[in-house]
Amino acid sequence: MARKHRTKRPTDRNVPKPAARTIASDKEEVRLNRFMARSGVCSRREADKLIARGEVAVNGKKVTELGSKVTPKDTIEVHGRKIVPLHLAWYILNKPSNVITTTKDERGRKCVMDLFDLPEKEKDGLFPVGRLDRDTTGVLLVTNDGDLAHRLMHPSYEIDKMYLVRTDTDLKDEDLAALLGGVTLDDGPAAAGRAAFPDPSVRNVVGISIHEGRNRQVRRMFEALGHDVVSLERIKYAGLTAKGIRRGKWRRLSRDEVSALYRKVKL
Ligand code: URA
Repeated sequence: MARKHRTKRPTDRNVPKPAARTIASDKEEVRLNRFMARSGVCSRREADKLIARGEVAVNGKKVTELGSKVTPKDTIEVHGRKIVPLHLAWYILNKPSNVITTTKDERGRKCVMDLFDLPEKEKDGLFPVGRLDRDTTGVLLVTNDGDLAHRLMHPSYEIDKMYLVRTDTDLKDEDLAALLGGVTLDDGPAAAGRAAFPDPSVRNVVGISIHEGRNRQVRRMFEALGHDVVSLERIKYAGLTAKGIRRGKWRRLSRDEVSALYRKVKL
């Protein structure tokens, strides 16, 4: 569904969009699906589905041709609601515990977007990429870049996520081997890309990396081996860490960091 969007010009001078991905001028033609993705409405793939279903109109006329091109001067409507291109923004949050990974919560619980002390207009369209459990801390990417987010979350890109796990009981070497070899979960097998004790003398703290993002996956992998997770921190996501960011705080990604993310998902 179309969301409300701001038309504001970029304010973040340190982080220009990668040049090839900018809707640079009123004359520049871009494919309709790209325009929609740049508006934060959906990913390009989802945009194609909306276009094919006749749910998109350009200058008042329904468009169903997938290759259609538009310029920012055209009026684009999805389900009858006008959309405008967003200035893209990318942030990294060091998520604290006891905060839920949604944009808002009807039950009044604290949400990750509440931690962004930005004007409401600048928060419009931002969403967390993937989900961390309420009690999981650490690296969380927040953006309005639908295309990028969609790909980062897609299992085919095998985005690396690294966690520091503290368990209630000590693990044996066989447990690490089992994590690497794969454990059986109720939604299928799950294996760690890497699993090691950062300090071999502390056997209830494990560093683990996974490529999928199934619900409560890390906790369930340890539970499958008889260990409860007492604390879980994501220390790396797609190469990004929360180094220098205090818990509950955020920073904008640099242009190089954004470019590196684009390269990872072949955008
Ligand atoms: N795995 C989990 O179990 N929880 C998270 O929050 C993230 C990964």
